[in-house]
Amino acid sequence: MRGVRMGFNGIASRYERDSLIQKSAADKLISLLDIRRDDAVLDLGCGTGSLTRKLRALTDGKVMGMDPSEGMIHEAESNRGGLDIIFKVETAERLAHDDSFTVIFCNSAFQWFRDPLNALKNCYRALHRGGRMGVQAPAKKEYCPNFLEAIDAVAGDPRTATIFAGFRPPWLFLDAAEEYASLFKQAGFIVPFAKIETVSTLHSPGEVMTIFESGAAAGYLNQEYYSTKLDEAYERAFREIVRESFHNQANAQGKVELVFNRIYLVAVK
Ligand SMILES: C[S@@+](CC[C@H](N)C(=O)[O-])C[C@H]1O[C@@H](n2cnc3c(N)ncnc32)[C@H](O)[C@@H]1O
Repeated sequence: MRGVRMGFNGIASRYERDSLIQKSAADKLISLLDIRRDDAVLDLGCGTGSLTRKLRALTDGKVMGMDPSEGMIHEAESNRGGLDIIFKVETAERLAHDDSFTVIFCNSAFQWFRDPLNALKNCYRALHRGGRMGVQAPAKKEYCPNFLEAIDAVAGDPRTATIFAGFRPPWLFLDAAEEYASLFKQAGFIVPFAKIETVSTLHSPGEVMTIFESGAAAGYLNQEYYSTKLDEAYERAFREIVRESFHNQANAQGKVELVFNRIYLVAVK
């Protein structure tokens, strides 16, 4: 099937190049986790594994990357460059490791979890006592005002309004750091750090479209999340409307101020 209607499998081959925003947010998460040479690390929702490779360089312990998308894991395997990393196709909800890691790293993936509490209970079980889990993910219903403005245009356009009415967002977006912390505490964790930050960066409208395609599009253009039937004409019009909205959001210098709310959280077993 063409396009991104298959979710992350459909964008896997472009993800490594296009995931600028996820990578820059990850650097802060890596520093919050303070990874040591003897840590055994699980990169949960590892995508194409570029961050897993970065984690590999920080420790001499075991490193595993896990992701439910076969396309993403295929890319991760192809890009591994001979590094000693185990890659596995699996969801966080089916993670079945006991006492196996000292660090779980989870960047830009938590919002996709279907059953976050169950996933977190699995993560708790997979960690050694004293082990830590770090999460970075877009947060708040207003997770990215720029994307939401574009999506409002999709919802109001006669070419897309009827099909878009059948869209049910798959994401978990909580409005307060305490709500995220409470979910982790229910799974047994102590939460020493949880903060929602608003980050804004300047990009050309084309770059904003690339950023949209590297994550959000895997939800907004995925048949799985519609009760209505997607077709090529919808997909084409959807992209045109979103692209036009990003152009309209540019300032006099031709730049869009892209705003993201992000949760950074560290939890300890
Ligand atoms: C935006 S990508 C992030 C990839 C990588 N962590 C990064 O920061 O570049 C989100 C990833 O979460 C994965 N994902 C979605 N649902 C998941 C689940 N239930 N358990 C684990 N990973 C999941 C997707 O397949 C996708 O590869």
